[in-house]
Amino acid sequence: MKKINVALVGLGFGGAFAPIYKEHPDVGEVTLCDPNPDRLKQTSDYIGGGVRLLDSYDAVLSDPSIDAVHLVTPIPLHADQAVAALEAGKHCACTVPMATSLDDIRRIVKAKRKSGKNYMMMETTLYTYQFFYASRMKANGEFGKIQFFRGSHYQDMVNWPEYWMGLPPFWYGTHAIGPMVALSGSRICRVNCFGSGTMAEWLVQKYGNPYPVESALFEFENGMKGEATRSLFECARVYQEGMFVYGSDKCFEWGFADEDDPIISTLDPGGNGRARWTSSETVPMPNYYEDLPEELWHFTVGNNYDPLNPQDSLKKGSGAGHHGSHAHLVHEFVRSCIEERKPWIDEHLGGNITAAGICAHESAMRNGEPVIVPKF
Ligand SMILES: NC(=O)c1ccc[n+]([C@@H]2O[C@H](COP(=O)([O-])OP(=O)(O)OC[C@H]3O[C@@H](n4cnc5c(N)ncnc54)[C@H](O)[C@@H]3O)[C@@H](O)[C@H]2O)c1
Repeated sequence: MKKINVALVGLGFGGAFAPIYKEHPDVGEVTLCDPNPDRLKQTSDYIGGGVRLLDSYDAVLSDPSIDAVHLVTPIPLHADQAVAALEAGKHCACTVPMATSLDDIRRIVKAKRKSGKNYMMMETTLYTYQFFYASRMKANGEFGKIQFFRGSHYQDMVNWPEYWMGLPPFWYGTHAIGPMVALSGSRICRVNCFGSGTMAEWLVQKYGNPYPVESALFEFENGMKGEATRSLFECARVYQEGMFVYGSDKCFEWGFADEDDPIISTLDPGGNGRARWTSSETVPMPNYYEDLPEELWHFTVGNNYDPLNPQDSLKKGSGAGHHGSHAHLVHEFVRSCIEERKPWIDEHLGGNITAAGICAHESAMRNGEPVIVPKF
């Protein structure tokens, strides 16, 4: 059986993926790469060794035995490192966001086309229990007509690494936008967005972004609409990466906090008098592990991985996190390379999700003017 050799680059959040690559039956040699020697050692210890360690990305790029790289590095490095991987003839998976400018998305698409290798944006929200559940509801026609989407991502980032400080909310809008795009079966073509609130002066300096919160209305090519709200700073709202689908027969709404079960509403078509009755129930999410190789099943359960304390993550569970999505992301990337087909979240889907957010922030900076989202 064919196997591929993979380099995992950036071992903060990236450390969560190390054991998954190590145990994936279609992966041969795993290389871990990080310039921080402590991170290299900690991650290697966490998975019990048996992997190569490199402290420079250049060494990954110049190693012909490495077939594919998975980037989990700081946001400002994503575009250059993705282009470099593709130009070095390697398949490239990259954590979100794909890039922070439209030009950088274009560069990645160009490098991908030229190389003939795969590009995949590793969007966690598209492989959560909740997304699988809502996708099945859609496939079974349970929503009736889907009338509207909503997405949310509220998270306080003040103690995160410096490149986050003051980041325009929708430059990292992919978790709020991704599920809408995927469930719409279309692409976002236009956006109007407003920024709201005021931010401490020190947070405005790096990116010139004055807004702690942004709210955008997206138009899809098929006529659908969706709204997303994103906050990064100075907003006390409980953490949530939410997906909301409003149908004529049923609605799916994320629970209040990120870990809460979703609420499904159902309209009683008969009703009583003028008022048609809508019932609602909180639904525990099943785990959709069956499509994965058995070796990866245990990565679909467990708590979030803590990069500051990897050994503790091991004790708490498998460090699955993000609602079971990590193993599915790895499997899709690896299998797409082996089967020589495109991954699902390719440069077009990843590009649209990322570009919609970049254009949303541009609209907010122009006080809500419509901005056309380019095609890639
Ligand atoms: N749900 C999700 O999809 C999700 C969640 C968390 C983070 N992320 C993304 O993951 C990325 C990393 O997040 P984090 O919190 O671990 O960030 P971090 O800044 O804490 O860690 C980044 C790691 O990359 C390493 N690094 C820096 N420069 C490098 C280089 N040139 N080559 C190789 N390694 C390098 C650093 O030493 C560090 O270990 C970010 O881009 C973030 O957007 C995505």
